[in-house]
Amino acid sequence: MRFKQLHTITHPLIREKVTKLRDRATPNREFRQLIAEISALMVFEMTQNLLTRPVTVETPLGKRAKGVKLARRIALVPIWRAGLGMLEGVHRLIPSAGVGHIGIYRDEVTLQPVEYFCKLPPNIAEAQTIVMDPMLATGGSAAHAVSLCKRAGAKHISFLCLLAAPDGCERFFAAHPSTPVFTAALDDGLNSRGYILPGLGDAGDRLYGTEK
Ligand code: PRP
Ligand code: URA
Repeated sequence: MRFKQLHTITHPLIREKVTKLRDRATPNREFRQLIAEISALMVFEMTQNLLTRPVTVETPLGKRAKGVKLARRIALVPIWRAGLGMLEGVHRLIPSAGVGHIGIYRDEVTLQPVEYFCKLPPNIAEAQTIVMDPMLATGGSAAHAVSLCKRAGAKHISFLCLLAAPDGCERFFAAHPSTPVFTAALDDGLNSRGYILPGLGDAGDRLYGTEK
């Protein structure tokens, strides 16, 4: 395995939806819906080992039933803009999660991340934090966002994306060797403008209908 902390989730439902996502003929509305659906399916898989603690509830029949509660709060941190499309699906699945926001865009010339907003939940230090962005291209945005979470005290962080490029993984894991990354696919590489190949194009533009 090339990247020890890279987990590729290849459930057939996810693979079929990612194929539609890549298709240039998929309209913006369906693209948005697919991003939300895939993100929720991926979170379902990536959280299967979350820590729980035992609780007991009383049923309407007056009986006590043993169950569980998540041991840690969940913090969801989308990277604007495209990560917001993922948040929609994931937050529906985990409505009790706190949400932090990180605004980063990638400079078109230098391809370096430019931060313009950061507001993280106050209890992020104890939370299980999921940072999300559909694209891990050069890895600059993801690595910067995870650094911001660590600086705010977060100790339990995972990064969720839909497509990752090998160069981006190299850069991300060089900065955060023990932060797991979950992706639906590891693509072939990047073009000269830093776009993932074969990729799906510009995720933010396709989500919000701002293609040129
Ligand atoms: C895209 C994407 C990531 C970043 C990935 O955002 O959503 O945030 O690029 O590229 P990197 O791995 O090379 O940093 P973009 O900069 O296009 O901003 P937007 O979401 O506001 O469109
Ligand atoms: N950002 C995108 O939206 N798509 C890419 O392929 C790379 C960065």
